[in-house]
Amino acid sequence: MCSCHADTASVVAEIVARHPDGRSSLIPVLQEIQESLGYLSPDSLKEIERLTGISSSESYGVATFYTQFRFTPPGKHTIQVCNGTACHVRAGQGITDEFSRTLGVNVGETTADGNFSLESVACLGCCALAPVVAVDGKVFAGVTTKKVPAILREYKAEGTREAL
Ligand code: FES
Repeated sequence: MCSCHADTASVVAEIVARHPDGRSSLIPVLQEIQESLGYLSPDSLKEIERLTGISSSESYGVATFYTQFRFTPPGKHTIQVCNGTACHVRAGQGITDEFSRTLGVNVGETTADGNFSLESVACLGCCALAPVVAVDGKVFAGVTTKKVPAILREYKAEGTREAL
């Protein structure tokens, strides 16, 4: 039997118990659940509903408003494309679209092979290097759509040496 649901239930129960003030704590509750479980699963939102009365559709609606939340398990590598002002004006969205097109996923999703998650973030704190992309925290500066394949190759190649 899968223990995932039991794990989710106990993690959510423990976090909700630390935030007794209901709706006003919804964001921190969602943040802590994501920190513990890696993402917000339908089961975790149902547990919030069972324990607090806040419906899963309300929690989902709130969470989708913020780019920090994800609804699928994280991939092995997390790609964060900066769409803060400095990066955005230098084609941040075009870079997001290129990663999305190449990987076949939307922002907030993980590739079918579980290798990459794609995220859009507000500012990585190194605007002078815009446009910026971070993969597992490693920053790539001055990214263009043409550099996207090379960045992905660097991570795809890991562990597949024999196949190259
Ligand atoms: S806006 Fe992209 S690093 Fe600040």
